[in-house]
Amino acid sequence: MRAAMKRKDYEAKLEPMREELVAMARWARVTGQRIVVLFEGRDTAGKGGAIRAVSEKLNPRQCHVVALGRPTEDEQGQWYFQRYVDHLPTTGEIVLFDRSWYNRAGVEKVMGFASDAQVEQFLDQVPAFEKMLVDDGILLFKYWLGADQEKQEERLRERLEDPLKRWKLSPIDLAARDKYDAYTEAREEMLRRTHTEWAPWTLVDFNDQKQGRLTLVRDLLDRLPDTACEPAEIDFPELGREPQVET
Ligand code: ADP
Ligand code: MLT
Repeated sequence: MRAAMKRKDYEAKLEPMREELVAMARWARVTGQRIVVLFEGRDTAGKGGAIRAVSEKLNPRQCHVVALGRPTEDEQGQWYFQRYVDHLPTTGEIVLFDRSWYNRAGVEKVMGFASDAQVEQFLDQVPAFEKMLVDDGILLFKYWLGADQEKQEERLRERLEDPLKRWKLSPIDLAARDKYDAYTEAREEMLRRTHTEWAPWTLVDFNDQKQGRLTLVRDLLDRLPDTACEPAEIDFPELGREPQVET
């Protein structure tokens, strides 16, 4: 197996992409784009780190991270997509989903939180749901972060042993260990039924998380249209001079 990427190399490669991300965000704001990025993957794949790589230099009022917990009783009574729809962006906003509506085809299916009929209906409806978003002009990107079972085990053990990572270890993660194959099967079906022309999946290898983040950020920037957009001129007078503020 290849040695893991060094932090120094990672930082050097990420730095120019950070600038591109900032330029992309400016373009989104000025031209009123709505951008949605879904981050899906197995437990420990590295969704959190990938989301931070995209969002860390952006304005948190413009770029929101949405990581919804288990649905409340109220939410369970709603249309399945409703609580996700609540977080979709308005003009100029970027929303990064740390897990998404695809929970129904993954954890909810495998752990039995949804019935077979609910999962089936979900898989049937997702392409149409996403088509509505895309037809309305939302730029939608779907990433699947993949890691091997060996890697998953290694990272779960780290979480157990490192007090700073312990919070990440949930009872679901532990239960999922025994269901690796069931998750694989669920993922295959999900990809098969929801990989559409208007909302395709992109699979990224996250066995090396730093390499994975670089690949994902590069891919996202490449998929966006030309985002060149010059920053506005700002009058920055010498101290003591009255700034000319236009109202
Ligand atoms: P994470 O790995 O995202 O930190 P968990 O491993 O605890 O969190 O849970 C995985 C996912 O399963 C989360 O998105 C959570 O909301 C969802 N989940 C947990 N319990 C339920 C439930 N009873 N019904 C539906 N979804 C659930
Ligand atoms: C992470 O991003 O740290 C993990 O992928 C989260 C998880 O366990 O699902």
